[in-house]
Amino acid sequence: MAKKGLIPLLCSLLFAAFLLNSHAANASERKIHVVYMGDRLKGDLSAKRVHYSMLTSVLGSSSSAKESLVYSYGNFNAFAAKLTEEEVKTFSEMDGVVRVIPNHILQLHTTRSWDFLGFSQSSLGARIEGDVVIGLLDTGIWPEHESFTNQELGAPPSKWKGICQGANFTCNNKIVGARYYNSEEWYSDTDFKSPRDSEGHGTHTSSTAAGNRVADASYYGLANGIARGGVPGARIAMYKVCWSFGCATADILAAFDDAIADGVDIISVSLGFIFALAYDEDPIAIGAFHAMKNGILTSNSAGNSGPWPYSVVNFAPWTLTVAASTIDRKFVTRVELGNGMSYAGPSINSFDLHGKSYPLIWGGDAANYSAGSNPDLSKYCINGYLNSYRVYGNIVFCELLWDGTGILEASGVGTIMASDRLKDFAFSFPLPATVISTKDGEQILDYIRSAEYPVATILFGETWSDVMAPYVVSFSSRGPNPMNPDILKPDLTAPGVDIIAAWSPVAPPSVAYEDPRSVNYNIISGTSMSCPHASGAAAYVKAAHPDWSPAAVKSALMTTATVMDSTKHEDLEFAYGSGQINPAHAIEPGLVYDANETDYINFLCKQGYNTTTIRLITGDNSSVCTSTVIGRAWDLNYPSFSLAVEDGEPISGVFTRTVTNVGSANSTYTVRMYSPSNFSISVEPQVLSFSTVGEKKSYTVTVTGGTISQQKIMSGAIIWTDGDHQYEVRSPVVVYNVLPGYTYFPPQNSKFQEKPTFQGPSMYEKYGVLRRN
Ligand SMILES: *[C@@H]1O[C@H](CO)[C@@H](O)[C@H](O)[C@H]1NC(C)=O
Ligand SMILES: *[C@@H]1O[C@H](CO)[C@@H](O)[C@H](O)[C@H]1NC(C)=O
Ligand SMILES: *[C@@H]1O[C@H](CO)[C@@H](O)[C@H](O)[C@H]1NC(C)=O
Ligand SMILES: *[C@@H]1O[C@H](CO)[C@@H](O)[C@H](O)[C@H]1NC(C)=O
Ligand SMILES: *[C@@H]1O[C@H](CO)[C@@H](O)[C@H](O)[C@H]1NC(C)=O
Ligand SMILES: *[C@@H]1O[C@H](CO)[C@@H](O)[C@H](O)[C@H]1NC(C)=O
Ligand SMILES: *[C@@H]1O[C@H](CO)[C@@H](O)[C@H](O)[C@H]1NC(C)=O
Ligand SMILES: *[C@@H]1O[C@H](CO)[C@@H](O)[C@H](O)[C@H]1NC(C)=O
Repeated sequence: MAKKGLIPLLCSLLFAAFLLNSHAANASERKIHVVYMGDRLKGDLSAKRVHYSMLTSVLGSSSSAKESLVYSYGNFNAFAAKLTEEEVKTFSEMDGVVRVIPNHILQLHTTRSWDFLGFSQSSLGARIEGDVVIGLLDTGIWPEHESFTNQELGAPPSKWKGICQGANFTCNNKIVGARYYNSEEWYSDTDFKSPRDSEGHGTHTSSTAAGNRVADASYYGLANGIARGGVPGARIAMYKVCWSFGCATADILAAFDDAIADGVDIISVSLGFIFALAYDEDPIAIGAFHAMKNGILTSNSAGNSGPWPYSVVNFAPWTLTVAASTIDRKFVTRVELGNGMSYAGPSINSFDLHGKSYPLIWGGDAANYSAGSNPDLSKYCINGYLNSYRVYGNIVFCELLWDGTGILEASGVGTIMASDRLKDFAFSFPLPATVISTKDGEQILDYIRSAEYPVATILFGETWSDVMAPYVVSFSSRGPNPMNPDILKPDLTAPGVDIIAAWSPVAPPSVAYEDPRSVNYNIISGTSMSCPHASGAAAYVKAAHPDWSPAAVKSALMTTATVMDSTKHEDLEFAYGSGQINPAHAIEPGLVYDANETDYINFLCKQGYNTTTIRLITGDNSSVCTSTVIGRAWDLNYPSFSLAVEDGEPISGVFTRTVTNVGSANSTYTVRMYSPSNFSISVEPQVLSFSTVGEKKSYTVTVTGGTISQQKIMSGAIIWTDGDHQYEVRSPVVVYNVLPGYTYFPPQNSKFQEKPTFQGPSMYEKYGVLRRN
């Protein structure tokens, strides 16, 4: 029963995606594909003309080519077009075409619940922040929202080349650019054909990253206070790629393409697949690679498929992968019974019953038999199974976490739902509601059975302090990295539980899509919410250091992250990576682990990519794999360390790293290491001396230990500190048993990309089947 609980929160998106993709069976129907070419187009031939003539030759006429072409990309040496299966085959076999990618539909990384912005950070001042533009790929934005007014912002930076697209949508000095993309040309009646947001998600993420300071923000009086983004002085550019059906590959690539050309500084992507995809098929990995080449860091969400191992997505090493953790505030709603008993559970209740008691019934006693229901069905209170004569005017006790609309339709007053699924975050519902444990539920059922006139009232929502915070929330996707076992993912964690931020006034304010109420702020949870916190922090670092590479910005965020309490997390770094973002420290990291395009290409080659497949990602026919030696990822200059060991093998790995001095010119760093008894870490040399800023020094890390088996994760750390202890540069060192059958070189083995064979419910079981093309 509990397993079904989260379905309503995602099902309509999944359903729409299924509809779109289910056409695939008809071979003669044209579906959008991205045709990827190895050649970089140079000279005076415009990319579009070349793409045109290719299409014309395959489709037979220039008019059908014109009809078929969806996008001609500038940065990716690719175009998107509507093609039949046969045409796809023709293009695939064409000289110069490396790959034809179907238009996968991605999902937003949010659970539809609402939450609190408890993130505080110092500020560089609007003038410096104002030079930074954060580009978000999302559901759009509500441009008239007070979080996005001009306030004291000056004109956009002179480098900015973005535009404002679409009718009835105006940009300003906060929202400096807005575009929209819908290659499928499928619109529901709630979708605006403009960058305007009908879902709330993009308005929420934008304001979390860079919204204005707005006093007196609240959700029906709950969580009242100042709402603000991480960098209130920074600019926002919205690239609307997500619609009511999801977010399509071709649109995501087009948005990256434009964002790079427009001149954004940071890209924030709170969406992704449920499954791990190979880099050469993943539009976010490809788009982010091009962004990286152009000096732009992409921050993306780790996914909401936790707590199962190997569930992390968006794990390309050139991106920042963000997990979601709690803040010190939680939302609780209490229920009081006629017998004086009181129960509390996670719920954001915006309805006030003013202490009035209502008759309390069990859903199982309110079956609508003429609708084919019975107590075993009606106890779940799902729509259509309840008898409205029985439910009218009552509070209904239900044995399932659901969206509450079943009770509303049957004219109930409120609901108490029993579920053990929901522990560490809260939803809001379209009626007075709370969620209690199944154990408390048994007591309530006993009361209903034994009392002559059982009554209850549901109290207005409360905010409680959460002394356990921060900890990584259960739904946040976990490592190990399903594709590159020797790269630790997620990279770090940020607040993503019960975050309050701006909302679209036409989007439903609760988990019920039909909820007609309108709010300006909403409280929701997801790695979608943690990602823009990290994006805002990255923008802050970029504002302070405009010349830093994406890898340097990312390194600064990771090595200065606040260490998480390991005793609260069974899966340690696989939950939180390097720790919780600490923007104030991140602008002064002392040392950074830098990396560039060449480094990532070498990494990919070692992971089994070849000159052909590497060009899919780089989009550049000068990219070559100089060595065909397949090896471990130990010497990619990554700010953390991960050593995957096969069962029964000894622990043994040698890593090389190079740090760049970005602190004081004259400085000497010494190293401290920590490791559990099972393995040891040695570092050589143990002292690094610098005399100039920008100077690089290399060191070697050797990790050794006996054979291990069934070891899910063990972790230590390497910390470089300078003499004055002004800077602490920390990297976690993780050692674990890789699952039998997992390969280090996934390009040759796609079976884990489809369905990992770890224990625990797979995503298929958890959310139902999401078809991919
Ligand atoms: C397949 O698609 C084509 C073009 O859209 C259409 O003419 C044809 O009727 C479809 N066939 C089936 C079996 O749906
Ligand atoms: C790259 O593409 C250009 C233009 O098509 C071509 O002239 C050049 O020979 C190609 N280089 C390689 C290494 O394939
Ligand atoms: C523009 O959009 C807003 C929000 O939906 C709406 O209230 C307004 O009437 C629209 N204006 C026009 C001219 O369509
Ligand atoms: C029972 O279900 C039927 C069919 O859905 C519906 O027409 C009817 O109104 C319901 N009765 C009550 C009392 O809710
Ligand atoms: C990347 O950095 C290395 C040195 O670390 C340098 O040799 C190489 O030329 C750089 N590549 C690019 C594309 O800048
Ligand atoms: C590159 O790898 C792909 C996929 O693994 C393979 O199909 C192709 O033949 C390889 N190309 C070369 C030149 O080795
Ligand atoms: C660094 O130290 C050296 C020797 O101690 C000294 O000559 C030099 O001036 C110092 N440089 C800076 C920038 O402080
Ligand atoms: C690792 O060390 C811990 C504590 O010393 C011990 O409990 C555990 O069994 C060890 N694991 C292996 C695989 O040796």
